[in-house]
Amino acid sequence: MSYKFDLSHIERDSDRSITAQLVALVRGAIEDGELPPGAKLPTTRALAEDAGVNHLTVVRAYKRLAAEGFVTASRGRGTFVRQAPPSVAPADGRWQHAILPRTQRSYLSQVVADTWHAPDVGDHINLANGWTADELLPVSDLARLSAEVFAEVGAEALSYGEADGLWELREHLARIGATAGFATNAEEILITNGARQAIDLSIRTVIRPGDVVVTESPTFMGTLASLEESGARVFGAPYDDDGLDVEALEQILARHEVKAVVVQTGSQNPTGQDMSPERVERLLALARERSFFVIEDGVYATIRFGVSEPSRMRARAPDHVIYVDSLSKTLGGGLRIGWVAASGEVRRRITDLKLATDYHTPGLTQHIAARWLASGAHLQHLAHINAEIGRRAEAMTNSIEQRLDDEVTATRPKGGHHIWLTFQRPLDERLLMAEAMHQGMSFTPGGATTVEGDGLSGVRLSFPRFDEERLDEGVRRFAAAVRAARRAGSGARLAPVLS
Ligand SMILES: Cc1ncc(COP(=O)(O)O)c(C=O)c1O
Repeated sequence: MSYKFDLSHIERDSDRSITAQLVALVRGAIEDGELPPGAKLPTTRALAEDAGVNHLTVVRAYKRLAAEGFVTASRGRGTFVRQAPPSVAPADGRWQHAILPRTQRSYLSQVVADTWHAPDVGDHINLANGWTADELLPVSDLARLSAEVFAEVGAEALSYGEADGLWELREHLARIGATAGFATNAEEILITNGARQAIDLSIRTVIRPGDVVVTESPTFMGTLASLEESGARVFGAPYDDDGLDVEALEQILARHEVKAVVVQTGSQNPTGQDMSPERVERLLALARERSFFVIEDGVYATIRFGVSEPSRMRARAPDHVIYVDSLSKTLGGGLRIGWVAASGEVRRRITDLKLATDYHTPGLTQHIAARWLASGAHLQHLAHINAEIGRRAEAMTNSIEQRLDDEVTATRPKGGHHIWLTFQRPLDERLLMAEAMHQGMSFTPGGATTVEGDGLSGVRLSFPRFDEERLDEGVRRFAAAVRAARRAGSGARLAPVLS
């Protein structure tokens, strides 16, 4: 039974509208405790009839009460006085689950978290992370520059700064960009917290839920994570030794209005391959014809093994390409120095979003990075780490050829931190992950790097963190895990079917 209001005080000729009088009546009953939390209000039709007013007047009054937080409407059940939050947390501590938005943790976010925390202790060999080895980072140079920043810049290095980033750093990056092909002037550059944030801000600026986005598949898990968050409809275009399959993109374009295509310039994560110049030309021509953005990720373009750097696409279509990059793979991911290079309205909007998200990237690390680039040491440092990472890539590729020849196909990477292995026969990656843990190694499951997420066809192994001997041992353990997973898989298939 619902509550009966005393409607005798409703005045039709009053200056106050009937809606306002009804709102005051219900609000008063709730505040006086006559209507306790959870109590059901009369239906809008019943109250309209009792009060002799139009049904829509009561609907309006209930809506206002809901907006003010006094009542909640539950479709098909009615309108109720809002329950006060529980004053004592339930003993099992699950109150957070009750109030947090409903979500289901996706396989991708699970794998991102797991590989981020992959064990790095004892004898375990973690081939899941593409982080530059500690011994390859210029620690003493950066320590000296950091002391210089405090001595010469003082408190300014610790105070709030521009959303776009430190002007000197933007100028150095624009100079590099003029040669590499990603920027022509410092105005185009916005400093971000790593390329990861640059990708995220670009996607959040361009994409709205339901928009169609195409990305290479397999690709960087962080890109897929941002696309998942954006609510985009994501289509994967296969990636082969010539890069993103532009014909597959054209087939998608024939059926959909595409908002953006996300691609890497070269030394692609996870395949280590480049997009051919012909495919780049076709992609950019399509971007111009069909008016979509290309989000170009050049994070691995400078990590090269004896082959020249691929030129960046942005120089050829600066209004259509939003370029993202960072110093993470050369100076250290913990610095979190990344950037966007873009022009036009999208450039302005990315700055607005950066300001709304975290104001700006820390000034201290920006000052250190600016001085590092000004010192002229970067090119020499690049040559040094590329020679060493190249040796590691070579060692791992050889080891894969020797130990897994009958199981996988792999193309020698042109650069980057990873090698992509395709299984000659499908293999369940969850089974393989469990066996790999058992053997004392970890890898990145392919299902988390592909749009299709099939989890049967490929895996990524990363080589920059270990010397040749440890890499070979890591591959030996991986091969043992593959054999064990095959045995476990065939055991499962042979299990008798019980009727
Ligand atoms: C292809 C690619 N893009 C972007 C990133 C993110 O880089 P950062 O560490 O600068 O955020 C990574 C990191 O692994 C990556 O592999």
